[in-house]
Amino acid sequence: MNKVDYLRVSLIDRCNFRCVYCMPEGADLEYLLQQELLTDAELLKLIREVFIPVGFTRFRLTGGEPLLRPGVVDLIREIVSYPQTEDISMTTNGFLLAPLAQDLYHAGLKRINISLDSLDGDTFNAIAGFTGQTKKSRWGEVWSGILAAYHVGFDPLKLNVVVIPGVNDHEVLDLAALTIDKNWHVRFIEFMPIGNGELFHGKGWIDSEFIRQQIRDRWGLISAEVRGNGPADVFKIPGAKGTLGFISQMSECFCDRCNRMRLSADGWLRPCLLNESGQIDLKTALRSGVKSEELQLQVQELLTIKPEINYKQRESGTNHGIYHRTMSQIGG
Ligand code: GTP
Ligand code: 5AD
Ligand code: SF4
Repeated sequence: MNKVDYLRVSLIDRCNFRCVYCMPEGADLEYLLQQELLTDAELLKLIREVFIPVGFTRFRLTGGEPLLRPGVVDLIREIVSYPQTEDISMTTNGFLLAPLAQDLYHAGLKRINISLDSLDGDTFNAIAGFTGQTKKSRWGEVWSGILAAYHVGFDPLKLNVVVIPGVNDHEVLDLAALTIDKNWHVRFIEFMPIGNGELFHGKGWIDSEFIRQQIRDRWGLISAEVRGNGPADVFKIPGAKGTLGFISQMSECFCDRCNRMRLSADGWLRPCLLNESGQIDLKTALRSGVKSEELQLQVQELLTIKPEINYKQRESGTNHGIYHRTMSQIGG
């Protein structure tokens, strides 16, 4: 059985982007009110007194956009200070990263994953949901954020590309080429129709193997490794400084090697990205005075039934869930 010791912590459900694959147009997004979010003290208490004691040692901060959370640098410093913390990382859209990169690094965040779906300003804007009224591309800020993270020393520095047919798939080789001269790790992600099955007419994803073949034809491709807790299969272009990762949840199910749970910004603990069964409301329990020891038991119980939930998910296929939350609300 897999050890489940990786917790993805959503710090906030809000985002300053509206990526089409993540916050589908017309999605009924009701943001959480301030009082519904776990406070810093509640979040840290859950990590310290509930998650660490039941065996979680690796934490990834997500959103919405985690850099929108006030006090994010102090939160990181605190989580890093726990002796049991083996790994802390963040997934961000990079827009606010440039001015914060140094502080984040000094607080103890040493690795980071940044979304970069295109190298072209207009395509980037179209994917990130800035259409019509907003002429200026947000690409420049994100690129500055990536460079700032690189210069500050984040390692590994990963760039996440959700590949969308007819939109950015023609850029795959250009994006892959970023790994040749720089120690950057580009990951191609198969689009998951979570809460938006109709988007891109139902066949919105491109098989990772198809992308690998394009790269093989151009440069060759060999197996490689990079530090990480996620489901990526890792390769590299021979001689390249960085690696190429493929996250293939549509073409090959990896539910049976799942090692993670997700904590939402309003304190729901969710055992599976793709279905909501079993989730527990830790915030309400905490606020009504339930003791940490009791919450540990509840989380342990969820860990016990997680293999069953993973199995059901694998059997049902990734496509068929009913989703009450968008990816932005779950945190990817
Ligand atoms: P590393 O620790 O660097 O390996 O990070 P990661 O790949 O776990 O984190 P990231 O936030 O960059 O996730 C990249 C993508 O992997 C997500 O957007 C999802 O598309 C996919 N992913 C992560 N976890 C799961 C999961 O449990 N199930 C499925 N189906 N996809 C997942
Ligand atoms: N399918 C695949 N990946 C997605 N992400 C967001 N929505 C989807 C989706 N529907 C990715 C983002 C980010 C990570 C947190 O999740 O690109 O890298
Ligand atoms: Fe895009 Fe990430 Fe915001 Fe979703 S949470 S809209 S993937 S930037």
